[in-house]
Amino acid sequence: MLLPGLLDTDAIRKDFPILDRVVHEGKKLVYLDNAATSQKPRQVLDVINAHYERHNANVHRGVHVLAEEATALYEGARDKVAAFINAPSRDEVIFTKNASESLNLVANMLGWADEPYRVDHDTEIVITEMEHHSNIVPWQLLSQRTGAKLKWFGLTDDGRLDLSNIDQVITEKTKVVSFVLVSNILGTVNPVEAIVRRAQEVGALVVIDASQAAPHMPLDVQALQADFVAFTGHKMCGPDGIGVLWGRQELLEDLPPFLGGGEMIETVSMHSSTYAPAPHKFEAGTPPIAQAVGLGAAVDYLTSIGMENIARHEHVITEYAIRRLQEVPDLRIIGPTTAEDRGAAVSFTLGDIHPHDVGQVLDEQGIAVRVGHHCARPVCLRYGIPATTRASFYLYSTPAEVDALIEGLEHVRNFFG
Ligand code: ALA
Repeated sequence: MLLPGLLDTDAIRKDFPILDRVVHEGKKLVYLDNAATSQKPRQVLDVINAHYERHNANVHRGVHVLAEEATALYEGARDKVAAFINAPSRDEVIFTKNASESLNLVANMLGWADEPYRVDHDTEIVITEMEHHSNIVPWQLLSQRTGAKLKWFGLTDDGRLDLSNIDQVITEKTKVVSFVLVSNILGTVNPVEAIVRRAQEVGALVVIDASQAAPHMPLDVQALQADFVAFTGHKMCGPDGIGVLWGRQELLEDLPPFLGGGEMIETVSMHSSTYAPAPHKFEAGTPPIAQAVGLGAAVDYLTSIGMENIARHEHVITEYAIRRLQEVPDLRIIGPTTAEDRGAAVSFTLGDIHPHDVGQVLDEQGIAVRVGHHCARPVCLRYGIPATTRASFYLYSTPAEVDALIEGLEHVRNFFG
């Protein structure tokens, strides 16, 4: 099917060897689990392979050729990521293991900080009811440790943030507001500007979880006006084991490290230590070197296709998917039912058929979706459901794959009578 705005998926899919897989007898893979992790193009796999075959060494530590090459590749990846997110400085890009670690790192920086950043019993932390567990639990831990009050924005019936009480939720006591840019379960794209404006009015720091945004749309940390932005590599064509925390330089200079160890120090004596400047202050121990290099290759790959083009492609596919899903009897979309201000993850329930059964029958037809609460259990509680089935799309997704999903769901309905 030809829909205006789509990428040349015939060409793109040739870059992803896994998309040719047959997963059950005669059933070609239809991969619709991109919000969980994306597939990796040959261009990324080749770079990781070449790293281990030709350049492997520890970074920042050796004077030999391989150590210098590995260091240049690792730091080169930092340059690429900085450019990809329009960071004012490469030193603002911290490599972590994943977005969860990035968010935990911020919570711990603030937990150990002195004034004016200190989070204590007289302060408040604000999140939302649509957060992934990785942006809930670290703040719960911080709140339990410090006595700070944890508050959150609730959700509207159509899967958007309820900001009607924004002045009561974000107050003079708020130290930090942490929220997701694109929900992994609802697909909602949140109104950053309104939240940031209010947070800035009261002098609160803003943390944005961009895990489901960085792979899918242009991400400009300066335009977001946040203080910290977290995301992960494996959802954006990179390998797993690599995440990013971007933070404003002056904050990274002021805030204390969380993990201690090699390479994050300036000097160490038996009594005390001083720390290296950011980003190294926050990268204790041997970092995920090949993973960072692979993420650099993923950034090159996505940039060569163009993030605007990827966003347009996903918008068209998501619009088509929502329209077709709404034709399926008894199907309820959990989240916005228009493609406006919406990402490419679409969650739904199908009558009273349990999502695990839906996922199982779809899998038998080669269709990979995610089922469960998607690490966002408060969202399921809010909408009175135990779980959802989630289809999520990416730059290589096609209308034919949406059609396969719809046919698969017909099969599920017939199977369960
Ligand atoms: N956060 C990932 C998801 O939504 C794993 O599936």
